Amino acid sequence: MSAKSGSFKIGDTTVDMPVKSGTIGPDVIDIGKLYNETGCFTFDPGFLSTAACESKITYIDGDEGILLHRGYPIEQLADHGDFLETCYLLLYGELPTSAQKAEFDYTVTRHTMVHDQMSRFFQGFRRDAHPMAVMVGAVGALAAFYHDSTDINDPTQRMIASIRMVAKMPTLAAMAYKYNIGQPFVYPKNDLDYASNFLRMCFAVPCEDYKVNPVLARALDRIFTLHADHEQNASTSTVRLAGSTGANPFACIAAGIAALWGPAHGGANEICLKMLMEIGTVDRIPHFIARAKDKNDPFRLMGFGHRVYKNFDPRAKIMHKTCHEVLAELGIKDDPLLDVAMELERIALSDPYFVERKLYPNVDFYSGITLKAMGFPTTMFTALFAVARTVGWIAQWTEMIGDPHQKIGRPRQLYTGAPHRDYPPIGKR
Ligand code: SDX
Repeated sequence: MSAKSGSFKIGDTTVDMPVKSGTIGPDVIDIGKLYNETGCFTFDPGFLSTAACESKITYIDGDEGILLHRGYPIEQLADHGDFLETCYLLLYGELPTSAQKAEFDYTVTRHTMVHDQMSRFFQGFRRDAHPMAVMVGAVGALAAFYHDSTDINDPTQRMIASIRMVAKMPTLAAMAYKYNIGQPFVYPKNDLDYASNFLRMCFAVPCEDYKVNPVLARALDRIFTLHADHEQNASTSTVRLAGSTGANPFACIAAGIAALWGPAHGGANEICLKMLMEIGTVDRIPHFIARAKDKNDPFRLMGFGHRVYKNFDPRAKIMHKTCHEVLAELGIKDDPLLDVAMELERIALSDPYFVERKLYPNVDFYSGITLKAMGFPTTMFTALFAVARTVGWIAQWTEMIGDPHQKIGRPRQLYTGAPHRDYPPIGKR
């Protein structure tokens, strides 16, 4: 990192602070000694101007609409590789050779079963429980079943826990779906690839053979790749903060799932589809655009806008292409939801309100239409996001745990509450 510095003057005190440069992207001002030398904290709720860590995993250029995983553009990974190849890249830093890929696929595939007592764990949930509520509980419960991979100080246990998480998330998500619809759980099959296994665990029934549609499996695999990791987003930051306390990886991933569930984050794909269904027809779009612009109306155009992307989300473009592929494969000629989505995108991208605020479709805008066409209920959309993002969470967690300078995350605050006051007896209040 190149040596630069900046100085900050507050009152009579001037503080010199080192400025660090990364490989690409904005420099950072190292403010580590600011409090000790000035008695002041920085103040940045929402972390609009704050880098919380150093990382080598994912880089986003929001102005250019660029997303790189270990330097490789998401477009190339999505077009030429598969999800498990991206998993290998995120976890180990390099693309695998064919031998490494074969071994990784073999290993992940043979960790897809879950402890059979997990099926009894599911019995405790109401049938109509939201799959994300089930996933938070079930993934957190993995720590109760896999004690032999919870020691974060043991690199071997960390590696086993990583593989287990990537491998078992589809199985748990499929179990959450099957439990929801009252159908028996379907065990994974080792002769199927990752996405095909997931489709079969979700949609196969004991009464007949299930034939995986390779076009849908390829599309789902690409959707997993698009959602694998995304720098220091809210759920990844949650996983890092939980991990900084030394919590076991299953607990950290459960915390990430909980954060992802929010409608401003991973929950947007479910809400976005419900919004498109509520709009219903193209002629109703102006009413919803007006609501999205009305400061007195909490309604927002779901699937639009992003904290980092001030240009097209590169994943949204690939998702849009995938959406058309899936609809064509399923013979869905004119999906009214797709008509509404495309017209909504056209109108929003020409409306000054959205243009001035650089609000573009994000990864969630077309994913819901695609997943619905595949047969998933809207309540499963964020669970699928969690399946894909688990590898990103694990890679970021592993990077943090392996950082010799890592400390527990403990932000401070600007206190605006009551100053010191003495306790009054109840009769004098
Ligand atoms: C994901 O961080 C990641 O990387 C996340 C993610 C990942 O892969 O991990 O990419 C996945 O979470 C994608 C985002 C999914 N969320 C949605 O689609 C929900 C709708 N979008 C918004 O809630 C919003 O755009 C956020 C939360 C995504 C970003 O919010 P910011 O960066 O905090 O921006 P902001 O709320 O300060 O908005 C800036 C302005 C405001 O207007 P003004 O106060 O300037 O007048 O833009 C407006 C907002 O009101 N605005 C919107 C809007 N998004 C922002 N207005 C209408 N509709 C929207 N969707």
